[in-house]
Amino acid sequence: MTKSELAERIEQLKREKGAVILAHYYTTPEVQAVADFLGDSLALSVKARDIDAPIILFAGVNFMAETAKVLSPNKKVLIPVPEAGCSLAESCEASALAELKGKYPNHKVVSYVNTSVEVKALTDVCCTSTNALQVVQSIPAEQPIIFAPDRNLGSYIQKLTGRENMIIWDGACTVHEEFSLKKILALKQEHPTAKIVAHPECKAYIIEVADYVGSTAGILEFCGKDSAQEYIVVTEAGILAEMQKRYPEKTFIPAPPESGECSCNECHYMKMVTLENILSCLEAESPEVQLDENVRKAAERSIQNMVAIK
Ligand code: 13P
Ligand code: SF4
Repeated sequence: MTKSELAERIEQLKREKGAVILAHYYTTPEVQAVADFLGDSLALSVKARDIDAPIILFAGVNFMAETAKVLSPNKKVLIPVPEAGCSLAESCEASALAELKGKYPNHKVVSYVNTSVEVKALTDVCCTSTNALQVVQSIPAEQPIIFAPDRNLGSYIQKLTGRENMIIWDGACTVHEEFSLKKILALKQEHPTAKIVAHPECKAYIIEVADYVGSTAGILEFCGKDSAQEYIVVTEAGILAEMQKRYPEKTFIPAPPESGECSCNECHYMKMVTLENILSCLEAESPEVQLDENVRKAAERSIQNMVAIK
């Protein structure tokens, strides 16, 4: 089948089954085009919870589909590629977090949503890259914290709050850690009026030169309100399609990684989702996200604790 035949067949199946497709900004433009909703990781999960549809197909990585299922236990949540993981989520095993909690029983656990459902179940309150500062600030200053799993987001929040009593997990996103400061500064020389927008999963030396730091949704919003004409975008390149679509009069320049000749950086997990596997998944209504109910409930509590803070 050609790409347009695949897209047509997907639309037909969505109508027949009353299914909706949620896609993350990092998926390919053709996957984004068949989505009913595009968003950042948290917005999509909340959308999954609020939407009136029996079937949700999550075009994104595994932890995102799991989060949708945590918040929508009565809906069928489909994930075309369950092996689409996340280096950040993989850097924090639930058993290792349980061990650390055992050593520091008086610490509250704050976990980024880029974690498995088992890690969320061990967490007191989740956070996203948008609300991590508010979440940490909502915890009394004298209360020690374990912050997992992103060392870059953790260090960024620690710097903003000046909070010393934070144990930061040593995990990272391999995509965001790869951006080259040297190449970004060279781009800035070529485009002196361009603003640098970066995701907080980037290393501290990148965050330091950024004009704006935020989640994918935050970056998109900033570029809409801001008056600059050009932006150097230091996050996964899939977001550029939505940026160009929303703000066609502006120029978005992807930031390059350290190694190789590529002009941008991609998350290979996100790119595992294709029109072909979306179609097979919709046809078979499988693979479906299945969660242990006790784990789901514990994870739901940590997500609801976050939502209550916002
Ligand atoms: P957002 O929470 O900004 O959507 O980011 C998800 C992600 O995977 C970042 O690498
Ligand atoms: Fe995970 Fe990084 Fe890919 Fe986001 S970009 S899904 S944090 S590996």
